[in-house]
Amino acid sequence: MLQVTPKKALDLTPRKEELEPIEIASRDEIAHLQRERLKRTLRHVYDNVPHYRKKFDEAGVHPDDFKDLPDLAKFPFTTKQDLRENYPFGLFAVPREKVVRIHASSGTTGKPTVVGYTKADIEVWSDLMARSIRASGGRPGMRVHIAYGYGLFTGGLGAHYGAERLGCTAIPVSGGMTERQVQLIQDFEPDIIMVTPSYMLAILDEFRAKGLDPRATSLKVGIFGAEPWTNAMRAEIEDAFDMHAVDIYGLSEVMGPGVANECVETKDGLHIWEDHFYPEIIDPKTGAVLPDGEKGELVFTSLTKEAMPVVRYRTRDLTRLLPGTARSMRRMEKITGRSDDMLIIRGVNVFPTQVEEQILRCPGLAAHYQIEVTREGRLDEMKVIVEAREDYADAASRAAQAELLARHIKDLIGVTAAINVVDPGGIERSVGKAKRVVDRRPKA
Ligand code: DLL
Repeated sequence: MLQVTPKKALDLTPRKEELEPIEIASRDEIAHLQRERLKRTLRHVYDNVPHYRKKFDEAGVHPDDFKDLPDLAKFPFTTKQDLRENYPFGLFAVPREKVVRIHASSGTTGKPTVVGYTKADIEVWSDLMARSIRASGGRPGMRVHIAYGYGLFTGGLGAHYGAERLGCTAIPVSGGMTERQVQLIQDFEPDIIMVTPSYMLAILDEFRAKGLDPRATSLKVGIFGAEPWTNAMRAEIEDAFDMHAVDIYGLSEVMGPGVANECVETKDGLHIWEDHFYPEIIDPKTGAVLPDGEKGELVFTSLTKEAMPVVRYRTRDLTRLLPGTARSMRRMEKITGRSDDMLIIRGVNVFPTQVEEQILRCPGLAAHYQIEVTREGRLDEMKVIVEAREDYADAASRAAQAELLARHIKDLIGVTAAINVVDPGGIERSVGKAKRVVDRRPKA
């Protein structure tokens, strides 16, 4: 007999024997592994990358000075600028013929940031993506629709290798051609979709435009990342598709997707795969290491990478470290935003994610939005351009929703914002990372 079970009620918690032993190892075991791997990494970069040798020498530190985890703080940071200055292959730590793959992330200015992988690096990445998909509720045999872009971006290929490694059927759709995304979800009946949360909303629009019920698809889990998104957005997507929405984090400089991932059974922040990446939180102004629980900039040192190890790479992502729950490895809280995306409106720090939370508290507004910053005289002004939901598209409802949003932003963020509620579909859709901030201030 046909039974209608809400897909979200499915228990996707992995059994203990399905996990890798290190995922539930003791903190001592994890720290021991990190110590040994950090020693090796510091030695590897010092011996093989002139840039690191020079920077260590200038800072008066040597790999032998590292005895225990807190000693890492003596070593200099690595920044995106260091990657640019060594463009394209200057930070590779192995002969170029050992590099089996290159990826790059497009910088907003100038040259892309280039990264390389050995065969062993690709193996580790595949394993960690498989671990991430399993933590999200994936199991061998499931079908995985991959709508992250394939190409120099790490999203598509990273997800692809992980899905295959776990024993899933990978469906390499890539980003774009939204009608076809919907068609393939209907026809191939995937269990899992991997895509940016903002593009998932564009796919949702297409379901509705076609008169299809998004809650009736085969999808059980969405693995969303590559851009900041809020728990309010999670609720929106989970409700629209009757599915679990899980957060995945990563960056090309450190590896790509799969540096950290949420567990579907807890959805309480992302477990950092600490056997391969050592996290620190620093004060972005002073560079001082902050204790767990305090908010600051996330910094990573790779522990096993061969081709392009990174030492204390400053991600510019803001979060805090929390103790493990579903796994022993520490969690990072959902990212608030990047320090580069922080707006300062009349002295108040504002992140797009804070605006997103307020938008989703307004029943008549959809999660498609952009924030425009202009300068009037010496003061920065913020305008939120946001779409009305279908049922609220008339002039009176729009005006009421604009007023409501302005009030929420004033009360909860503490700034005055102009609000422009546009027609459904009025904000340009991105097929990958959404562009949330449009800066119209005159360039200094
Ligand atoms: O975005 C890798 C990735 C692909 C992650 C697919 C997850 C899924 P990059 O293009 O180098 O790599 O951009 C990395 O994106 O420093 C964050 O600012 C942001 N980011 C990535 N994941 C998240 C997330 C990929 N879950 C930059 N939440 C990072 C918030 C994220 N921001």
